[in-house]
Amino acid sequence: MTRAIANRQVRLKSRPVGNPTADNFDIRAGDLPPLQDGEVLRRTIYLSLDPYMRGRMSDAPSYAAPVTLGGVMCGHTVSRVVESRNPDFQVDDFVAGYDGWQEYATSNGKDLRKLDPNAAPLSTAIGVLGMPGLTAFVGLIDIGRPKAGETVVVSAASGAVGSVVGQLAKARGCRAIGVAGSDDKCRYVVDELGFDTCVNYKHSDFYRELKAACPNRIDIYFENVGGAVQAAAFRLLNRGARIPLCGLISEYNSTEDAPGPNLRTSLLVNRAMIQGFIVSDHTDRTPAFVQEVAPLVRAGRIKYREDIAEGLDAAPKALMGLLEGRNFGKALVRVSPDPTR
Ligand SMILES: NC(=O)c1ccc[n+]([C@@H]2O[C@H](COP(=O)([O-])OP(=O)(O)OC[C@H]3O[C@@H](n4cnc5c(N)ncnc54)[C@H](OP(=O)(O)O)[C@@H]3O)[C@@H](O)[C@H]2O)c1
Repeated sequence: MTRAIANRQVRLKSRPVGNPTADNFDIRAGDLPPLQDGEVLRRTIYLSLDPYMRGRMSDAPSYAAPVTLGGVMCGHTVSRVVESRNPDFQVDDFVAGYDGWQEYATSNGKDLRKLDPNAAPLSTAIGVLGMPGLTAFVGLIDIGRPKAGETVVVSAASGAVGSVVGQLAKARGCRAIGVAGSDDKCRYVVDELGFDTCVNYKHSDFYRELKAACPNRIDIYFENVGGAVQAAAFRLLNRGARIPLCGLISEYNSTEDAPGPNLRTSLLVNRAMIQGFIVSDHTDRTPAFVQEVAPLVRAGRIKYREDIAEGLDAAPKALMGLLEGRNFGKALVRVSPDPTR
């Protein structure tokens, strides 16, 4: 085809403050240049809409660059090849790509994955068998490490990621509890998806309902939303619980920081891990610790300082001092003379 291709695109006109509005988008007709050798022209069939797009509309620091002002909105797509000057693609091939919010796109094809429409409905390539499905799989299986019999709670349970999380959890022999924002969604999560139960977080006694749904408390809380749902789930965590921190959608439109640490920028974006531990669970590490550290102490390569109170009677005051920061170094009480010093 030597003529230009009429295209329509949705571009980012301005960055939203709070909830995005129609004014932030600009729908424009425009021509694609004629196809060059090696290129593939496709027509978008499906465009995936995903929560991360809110982040791309903002220029706040994140794990990926924002859409530039005036740029085409990004997004995963399923398309049909309508013209090809690339031997790897034939007209009428179906492909998954990242063409964004536009009717047509061209490229050299390296960014495309061919789809077999007989293997699964085309749209699943950007849903249950695409990025959201993979997110559920990695988060639950690799990070959550579910074991049969454990309780898995997932927020945004009726959505693209959450729905897969709960069903994979069931397939692994876990008890799957959903949290969703309407009774209709909850019914779907239980009746259609096969979760054990689902709690509507908009109910006034949500925490009590979640607690009742988790008689053995929570082993994995798959975090999709943050906010009040997170606060309730955290109160019910079991010893050794895992929290795949996948998303915090309740904060995405917020113009103010939620109270407490900002988990999105500090943990999620940095792929950072947070894990509670109690040293008494790790006494088996004592020999390794002493073997490594004692020589360093002897060689003066690890220094220490002691703040020694004299006599047992000094202990209460010394402890109170420690709690107020008056100790300077390891707080000790010399209860009786040390014959070696
Ligand atoms: N880390 C990653 O690589 C990665 C990849 C994909 C997705 N994600 C994250 O996974 C989460 C789910 O994404 P998805 O694609 O599966 O979306 P989704 O669940 O299909 O759709 C979003 C849902 O979030 C819920 N929601 C919206 N505002 C909320 C609020 N203020 N409080 C509580 N829930 C709220 C709504 O369900 P209710 O009606 O039930 O509230 C809404 O339907 C998002 O946080 C997303 O950013 C992360």
